[in-house]
Amino acid sequence: MSESTLDKFARELQEEILEDVRRNYSETVVDHWMQPRHLGFLPQHNGYGRLTGSCGDTMEFFLDIENERITRIGFDTDGCGTSIASASITAELALGKPLKEAKMITNLTVLEKAGGLPEEDQHCALLAANTLQEAIKNYEERSKG
Ligand code: FES
Repeated sequence: MSESTLDKFARELQEEILEDVRRNYSETVVDHWMQPRHLGFLPQHNGYGRLTGSCGDTMEFFLDIENERITRIGFDTDGCGTSIASASITAELALGKPLKEAKMITNLTVLEKAGGLPEEDQHCALLAANTLQEAIKNYEERSKG
């Protein structure tokens, strides 16, 4: 069956958008954006963080921590593609790390791993790093209890 005019238009539009994204973002960001890692609710978790960034978007991190090490991780966000990519990169950075090391993950760590972000998107990396830290804090408060 031949491609309809509408299908062709949609495909061309999609390709144009993707090309535009590729011009402005690193390969790493595009990869995490298109195929986010660890996206989703983690039913069994002992650390949880939820923050709303300056842009109004919200992010959540779920951590499963055993012997002071992050053994499983999940995130969710209603934010932009860059926030999904930032959270996915943050999750990869934190997974398997001892808490001591995970606590050192900042927006700068995320930006470095991402290969940089346009200035107007850098707050997305900040939201991801801060939400991770919020989840770690939550775990520490729970374990004090
Ligand atoms: Fe809100 Fe990216 S624009 S997190």
